[in-house]
Amino acid sequence: MSTVVTDIGELVTNDASTGDGSALGVVHDAAVVVSGGLVEWVGPAASAPAADHRLDVGGRAVVPGFVDSHSHLLFSGDRSGEFSARMTGERYDGGGIATTVAATRASSDDELRASLRALVAEMRRQGTTTVEVKSGYGLTVEDEARSLRLAREVTPETTFLGAHVVPPGAERSAYVDLVAGPMLEACAPWARWVDVFCEPGSAHAFDADESRAVLSAGARAGLGLRVHGNQLTAGPGVRLAVELGAASVDHCTHLTDADVEALAASAPAQERQGTVATLLPGVEFSTRSPYPDARRLLDAGAVVALATDCNPGSCFTSSMPFVIALAVRETGMSPDEALWAATAGGALALRRHDVGRIAPGTRADLTVIDAPTHLHLAYRPGVPLARALDLPDDAVRP
Ligand code: NIG
Ligand code: FE
Repeated sequence: MSTVVTDIGELVTNDASTGDGSALGVVHDAAVVVSGGLVEWVGPAASAPAADHRLDVGGRAVVPGFVDSHSHLLFSGDRSGEFSARMTGERYDGGGIATTVAATRASSDDELRASLRALVAEMRRQGTTTVEVKSGYGLTVEDEARSLRLAREVTPETTFLGAHVVPPGAERSAYVDLVAGPMLEACAPWARWVDVFCEPGSAHAFDADESRAVLSAGARAGLGLRVHGNQLTAGPGVRLAVELGAASVDHCTHLTDADVEALAASAPAQERQGTVATLLPGVEFSTRSPYPDARRLLDAGAVVALATDCNPGSCFTSSMPFVIALAVRETGMSPDEALWAATAGGALALRRHDVGRIAPGTRADLTVIDAPTHLHLAYRPGVPLARALDLPDDAVRP
């Protein structure tokens, strides 16, 4: 069974070979035919082939579903008090993570599952169709493995973040050995990626040598690499990520010229997987910190992605449209660049070719914007315009 999604006023495909030839590959007055959960045909509505069902979106814009390549959705507890203190002058240093670790450990599987599913549903209502979920609030062998097992129920993009912080009461070097040894072994079956919070200046996070030990062990266990780097200072995270061939280095708030050059030189291209610079400007919003400079990265030739970093501490938003609006207003991106970064950029950060674009053979992940053009995502901040399109069941059944 097939469905034709039609009367699309503006279709963003991210397929430069389609439409107007721009990076966004825009087609006006378009239609998309989907079948078995995949896109079958893309083009002008007037020449769309016949299909079993017809879904008319009334002239609205349609974009690839948002790819949120960085989130920490597996947690319990509330840190709104910490947020409130920051808004009156407290600094963010990752110290509050221990509060969430205690609440998460004390929760049952069913409690964690329910809050995880509620957040994934909240994301989908705002247009996100692919989400990466990290562990990192368990920090024991059993609690990290449990987090990843539950995360795997909602996404294949699961990331082992045992090296989030040194948990209270643990000795630093023994904890790094635990993460790179038994904890990794217990978690690897449930994880696609391994990540570290590399921030040598922080009492809680990890320095370059500790980060390298965990990432190298993860790579030997067959996991892809991701890094939290350069969030609080211009530390070694970016250079380590590039050196080890990580898919993405995330935050990238404080960068030296050498960091920018390294990201540009390792930008994913057709012949190379490379390292994406993922910006999380919701964090700067929620920690009252200076924003990263996307313009500097883009002008140098780096590939930039945008993600929410949804977590209870540094940024509790699930909204990619909010992140797009912030990136446009505060990081020097154009609305076109921000939309690309939130879709195709996120897909590159996850090394996925089946999402982030709308072309024959990609997943039928379509997001409808209740507006004539995607520009309204940044032009109308805070207005709930985006939603993932629900297709008739028989069109999404593989
Ligand atoms: O990406 N920087 C480290 N980890 C998260 C914050 C986690 C928390 O504060 O609970 C981040 O910002
Ligand atoms: Fe994060």
